Amino acid sequence: MDAMRQTFLNELAAATTPEAVEQLRVRYLGRKGILTELRKGTDMGSMDPEQRRQFGTRFNDLKETIEAELTRAIGRLKGAPAAGRQSLDLTLPAAERRSGSLHPITLVQMELEVIFRGMGFQVLTGYDVESEFFNFDSLNIPSDHPAREMQDTYWLTNGMLLRTHTSANQVRALGELGAPLRAIFPGRCFRYEAIDAKHENTFYQLEGLMVDREISVANLIAVMRALLAEVFRREVTVRLRPGFFPFVEPGFELDIQCLLCSGAGCPTCRTGWLELIPCGLVHPNVLRHAGVDPEQWSGFAFGLGLTRLAMMKFGIPDIRLFNSGDLRFCSQFPVAL
Ligand code: PHE
Repeated sequence: MDAMRQTFLNELAAATTPEAVEQLRVRYLGRKGILTELRKGTDMGSMDPEQRRQFGTRFNDLKETIEAELTRAIGRLKGAPAAGRQSLDLTLPAAERRSGSLHPITLVQMELEVIFRGMGFQVLTGYDVESEFFNFDSLNIPSDHPAREMQDTYWLTNGMLLRTHTSANQVRALGELGAPLRAIFPGRCFRYEAIDAKHENTFYQLEGLMVDREISVANLIAVMRALLAEVFRREVTVRLRPGFFPFVEPGFELDIQCLLCSGAGCPTCRTGWLELIPCGLVHPNVLRHAGVDPEQWSGFAFGLGLTRLAMMKFGIPDIRLFNSGDLRFCSQFPVAL
């Protein structure tokens, strides 16, 4: 009977549905079941009283066990239908948990925000969809101005446009907040361009604007140098070349000496210099559009190519990777700032 008990327990352990347990009940306790057969097949008449008593006790024990175990199994399977089907295998490898990562543009943007906050700049954002006024007219670029052609524009059917540069935030912010103001405006810009390894129709800039009393080119250079030293974690040699933008006067192209060849000239820079930050002193007309008196206030503005900077910082060879959505690209940048 001990062997039978063990067999039953094994079979019960293998029964993972209420139906299977029910079949076991019929097989063991049914009218023609195993227990009935066992009792019928035992010749109790030939036993002495002591043997009969022992047989009876063990038989009843077995029957009680079987009944109790069947009831328990039914309860367990009905209470948690899936529980009987799953087994816990502690040797299985753990489910993989991949942590997320930040896009390289986000990383560079966050780094720049920290640096500029440290210099007293606030971080503001504007709108991807802009008015012609903030994107062009307020920046001293009237509709017949050839400078508009430098920035091929996506126009919307309602007369609005996709901003072609973050400079669209200058008059918006200055008009709202007034002078003095120190702010940066990171954001996405759009130009109707043919796309190749160096050109995108959707890219990021980080605009900076500082308006205060007696701001000069010296302030501009000082802030740019502090910025670049922190970004590249070393002193960077810069130079200013004249550059034309209707909303700054004077206007410059700020170049940095190539970090790879230290200005000697290499395949990356060719000339020893890399064009990085267009900038200049805010044009009086721009201040006027924002309701700020150019006799009392002056300022500088710059438009850093965030996408360009990310390419330089991480050595990314093709601008198209940024918007590719390819996780093999996006997830390989260090989150540490
Ligand atoms: N907005 C200009 C561009 O996108 C860059 C710029 C910004 C130039 C600020 C001067 C001052 O080309």
